[in-house]
Amino acid sequence: MRDVNVGIVGVGNVGGGTLDILAENASQIADKLGFRLKVGAICSRSIDEKKLPAGIEPGRRTRDWRDVVADPSIEIVCELVGGTGVAAEIVETAIAQGKSVVTANKELMALRGAELWEKATAAGINLAMEASVAGGIPIHAVLREGISGDRIEALFGILNGTSNYILTEIEKHGTAFEEVLAEAQRLGYAEADPSADVDGFDARSKLAILAALAFGEKVTPSDIYTEGIRRITPFDFQYAHKLGHTIRLLCSARRTAEGLLLSVRPALLPQQTIMAGVQGAYNAVWVRGQYGADTFYYGRGAGPHPTGVAVVSDLMRVAREIRSGSPERVSPFAHETLGARKPAPVASQQRAWYLRFRVTDKPGIIASLASILAEKKISLDAVLQLPSDDKDNLPFVITLENSAEHAVRDAVARMASLDFLREPPLALPMETSL
Ligand SMILES: NC(=O)c1ccc[n+]([C@@H]2O[C@H](COP(=O)([O-])OP(=O)(O)OC[C@H]3O[C@@H](n4cnc5c(N)ncnc54)[C@H](OP(=O)(O)O)[C@@H]3O)[C@@H](O)[C@H]2O)c1
Repeated sequence: MRDVNVGIVGVGNVGGGTLDILAENASQIADKLGFRLKVGAICSRSIDEKKLPAGIEPGRRTRDWRDVVADPSIEIVCELVGGTGVAAEIVETAIAQGKSVVTANKELMALRGAELWEKATAAGINLAMEASVAGGIPIHAVLREGISGDRIEALFGILNGTSNYILTEIEKHGTAFEEVLAEAQRLGYAEADPSADVDGFDARSKLAILAALAFGEKVTPSDIYTEGIRRITPFDFQYAHKLGHTIRLLCSARRTAEGLLLSVRPALLPQQTIMAGVQGAYNAVWVRGQYGADTFYYGRGAGPHPTGVAVVSDLMRVAREIRSGSPERVSPFAHETLGARKPAPVASQQRAWYLRFRVTDKPGIIASLASILAEKKISLDAVLQLPSDDKDNLPFVITLENSAEHAVRDAVARMASLDFLREPPLALPMETSL
């Protein structure tokens, strides 16, 4: 069968990893497909400085992505630039020219994926995005095809490797957040501007995509309740361990009668659950189906080669479809059309809670806090205080029985003005359903 020519736009981390795999696995890919997947054109702003792997000899090397998209020999455009500006132009122009698209772009697909899929189906081409969430874990394929016969009840994920690395370093070494972040930046694990990772926004885009795949709803990322990990301290891990838990930045999506409950936030997880064992830069996704029950997926969430595998596998799938003809393309969101129900407000959910305080010690502290909790009809479960000599900066924890989030938020807001507090209380949900 005739070769399929691919145009790669973006030769950074993922583009570089993709080219390595296309070069080194070329003959295996040809054996699997029955034809060759050839890189016909490559584009990046600094293309003249790029050294390409042996065996990658594109007919066209350019700084202008339009040259790639307009090249009549290119049948698939692979967008590995990122962001929602020029990347959107590349994808839209490719679709308009009747060329299939493979992308790793979570931001773009979370924000405009449904609309782009409509354009792609109208143009009769394919749009694939396996690499956009949890790079090395083929979770799209699982939700789109592997378990699409089930009805998904809940999905949980650790979807940001940088924040998971930071949390597990704080946990293992008792080092403060700022120090671990600085070290991660020095080692190149965290960006100079770490906000997307540590404030939860990167995980939020990924959860929006997975929620669409799992539940068939178009979720706007800004509608997802999001909290980052900046306030987590070594004390929190000491107290969490005392309670038989650990802390992870947990992405959570649950189907309820009121709609989807979606959040990205640090949460306490029981230490014996498999999710709590996800360490360092690894990612995991836990899916609960009505019939298939629990399934768990684990692997590298990012990195040139794990993400490159996802891109190359998408290229192979799309190329196979181009050569074999497949009239029934499967939407990258697993649902032909997505619903537009707004997520349910998380404040309505009932959970057990962990409240951590840092106080200047004086008599009557517990009584003051307990009276605010009683006022809001919240039942206190336990009070924990580990030995400490620092009476000016004394940490302790109160756990709460199942309580509505809005009541806990009201109580925490009331507590924040108490004169013995060194900072507002930290409230984390305790995830008991894993
Ligand atoms: N990094 C990961 O592990 C990972 C994992 C999963 C998904 N992703 C996603 O993969 C995509 C790429 O990420 P990355 O980490 O590979 O980014 P990156 O290292 O910054 O690479 C981006 C590439 O795009 C090129 N580029 C930027 N603007 C361009 C323009 N106007 N015209 C042509 N080329 C342009 C850059 O060119 P120059 O090099 O010449 O400047 C560079 O080669 C993003 O959507 C990201 O979210 C990344």
